[in-house]
Amino acid sequence: MARVLTGIQSSGRQHLGNILGAIRPAMELANDSTNDAFLFIADLHSLTSIKDAAARKENVTATAAAWLACGLDTDKVVFYRQSDIPQVTEMTWYLSCFTPYPMLANAHSFKDKSENLSDVNAGLFIYPVLMACDILMYDANVVPVGSDQKQHLEMTRDIARSVNHQLGREILVIPDAQISEDVMVIPGTDGRKMSKSYNNHIDIFLPEKKLRKQVMNIVTDSTPLEEPKDPETCNAFAIYSLLATADQTAAMRANYRSGNYGYGHAKQALFELIMDEFAEERSRFDALMSDPSSIEKLLQQGAEKARPVADAVLTRLKRAIGY
Ligand code: TRP
Repeated sequence: MARVLTGIQSSGRQHLGNILGAIRPAMELANDSTNDAFLFIADLHSLTSIKDAAARKENVTATAAAWLACGLDTDKVVFYRQSDIPQVTEMTWYLSCFTPYPMLANAHSFKDKSENLSDVNAGLFIYPVLMACDILMYDANVVPVGSDQKQHLEMTRDIARSVNHQLGREILVIPDAQISEDVMVIPGTDGRKMSKSYNNHIDIFLPEKKLRKQVMNIVTDSTPLEEPKDPETCNAFAIYSLLATADQTAAMRANYRSGNYGYGHAKQALFELIMDEFAEERSRFDALMSDPSSIEKLLQQGAEKARPVADAVLTRLKRAIGY
């Protein structure tokens, strides 16, 4: 059975774009019982940017709640928090010593971040080595990631090869990347890609009133109510069609074209569709968030399953290096 492993950024509340573009596709892979799936929240990586302890904890809780609310089955998936297996930080030192400096200096993500951030710390520089350890520490075979992570996966493979080559044996398993090039780009309320940093996101877990407000804030043009409208250039229609059935989408397209159908009507329909489509997720999310200890318990159970795997690989590596 192939071990499929991936990491989730612990960026806090997950919006509609994350859910459709990342959570749902990953869930299919993870819940597929022919895979031995490992999924973790990368809260050590987030220390490169988030220094506030309470904020980091809150992000982990909300991220875990969103994944669990969307149907992650912890009986089928080893679901854990990266920092609960501190062996990964020890391994990061060992692998740092097998990682060529120029490879890290050339990483796109480091170059981008070091140009745009005020806090350019060494953790940011070593980020790809920690990520390589996340993967290599569990003998992962397949790592599904977005195309932005492609270089990190190439570095992981290079580091593993370098270790095996220098130690003269196959100590580490070389993982394959599974790059989803065609991840759905979910438009935000202003038509650009949905992203928290553009503040154009729809947070399906918000209380009803606030959620409705976000939907009503979708940017539309000023075509008067009576006039026909072009569905193909409208953000409200674009988001609606991602969630609606083919029949619902066809009906809304006809409404747009016929006139006497306002953008307010379309947004109201979208709001109702979201409430309907995500009713279960919303109530599970609220239940989890009102009982954070239930989330904690699941993460601890996941860590119990992950730890022996990590220990075995770390021991194998240490022996081979000579510790
Ligand atoms: N760097 C990844 C991201 O930004 C998150 C991540 C950390 C990860 N460790 C990983 C992904 C290991 C896959 C495997 O999305």
